[in-house]
Amino acid sequence: MNIDKVCIHGEWSSRLGFILAATGSAVGLGNIWKFPYMAGEYGGGAFVIIYLVCVALMGLPVMMAEVLLGKRGRCSPINTMRTLAEEVGASKLWQFLGWAGVIAGFLILSYYSVIAGWTLAYIPEVASGTFSAVTTMPETEVMGFVGSIFNNLTGNPLALIFWHTVFIVVTLIMLLGGVQGGLERAVRFMMPALFLLLLVLVGYAMSTPKFMEGVHFMFNVDFHKFFYPKGDQFSGDGLLAAMGQAFFSLSLGMGAIMVYGAYLPKHASIIQTTAVVVVADTLVAILAGLIIFPIVFSNGLEANAGVGLVFKTLPIAFGQMPFGSLVGALFFLLLALAAWSSAISLLEPAIAWLVETGKFTRFSATISSAVAVWLVGFATVFSFNLLADFKPLFDKTLFEQIDYLTSNIMLPLGGLLIAVFVAWMMKRQIITEELELSTDSFGFQLLQFLLRYVTPLGVTLVFLNAIGVFS
Ligand code: PHE
Repeated sequence: MNIDKVCIHGEWSSRLGFILAATGSAVGLGNIWKFPYMAGEYGGGAFVIIYLVCVALMGLPVMMAEVLLGKRGRCSPINTMRTLAEEVGASKLWQFLGWAGVIAGFLILSYYSVIAGWTLAYIPEVASGTFSAVTTMPETEVMGFVGSIFNNLTGNPLALIFWHTVFIVVTLIMLLGGVQGGLERAVRFMMPALFLLLLVLVGYAMSTPKFMEGVHFMFNVDFHKFFYPKGDQFSGDGLLAAMGQAFFSLSLGMGAIMVYGAYLPKHASIIQTTAVVVVADTLVAILAGLIIFPIVFSNGLEANAGVGLVFKTLPIAFGQMPFGSLVGALFFLLLALAAWSSAISLLEPAIAWLVETGKFTRFSATISSAVAVWLVGFATVFSFNLLADFKPLFDKTLFEQIDYLTSNIMLPLGGLLIAVFVAWMMKRQIITEELELSTDSFGFQLLQFLLRYVTPLGVTLVFLNAIGVFS
């Protein structure tokens, strides 16, 4: 079968187009919303260090492997895995990796959109100057004030549904633009702008009285506290969460990066492009932490405030700084844009596959999958209000369960299988050809070692640790 014929969805205009899109996919709520609150929840330094180690030893190699698969297969992850498994004579079952990815993308987007909706809701809230009130109230009341605004939003299902709907509709419009029209153009201006604004906010954080305390929290490593958060009872949760966060933040393990790799021009270098994406993504997460924790400590907030952390800290900064309403509105707008460029990559594997079945046009594929995700999103909407006490399994709300299942289990497992497929099933010759490396080069040897042993063993050990095998 000539796969090129079946699978053409378009191509990035250049290597830069791919870098922008992949960075757009990686940088999003994961960096600015999730990374800080997870780091806060798991005590700071140890979480950050383990996260960074996972990014370097698993994230970077798996990203290279995932792009390589896409670039060679040139289809949706499902068909890419099917044709590549055929090419190397492996079992047909490998296409389930593609299926699992499509499902993970669906589930992630269903809650991602609701959280991105919070970001949208904060644009008018901040722009209207609500938060400038923090300058005139006694310090002890600030925390309660920002908290109540956040709780009023999340406690209101209709408001959440409204913003979730807005987010999905715009995602849909961007997806309809296709590879070059919608995706590439959106990211080109947004990424540098977001980065600049983060630097401005780091400047603000440096002016707060407890900047160094925030830095210390992020980089002071205490493994004992990390593994024994409740006195002498061992817990592998933090380790699993840090690894899951590395895969989540880099958009790995579910086919988003694979399908973007499928749109890569044939001659583009995988190694350099992935390195740029990984560095940019990591930098944004670290900057977000450097902004948020100083604000936490300077205002007597709790680092383990959970999912609301960003929404309870940054508005204080916007309330206090000159032109804060403007800067704040711009910030939440850029964050929403960053979320959109991630959201489109979460749905792209499903859309590409639907189109390849021949039964859907890009239009009908996009509409159907967006409607499905929108409906599943209601589970998350209600997890913060009507169903806040509905915790059917492991004492977690529906939102927490979807998040746990996808980030902590599906993505690392997907990453493990991607690593195994590339390093154990594919011929060296194919890998080196796609990577433009020679078989005896140090780069290839190192990558092969990381993919063959470090990633599969690492993921397995963290899983076993989390279920308490080593305690
Ligand atoms: N990496 C994105 C973020 O950090 C989320 C994402 C996960 C996107 C998985 C695609 C695939 O916000």
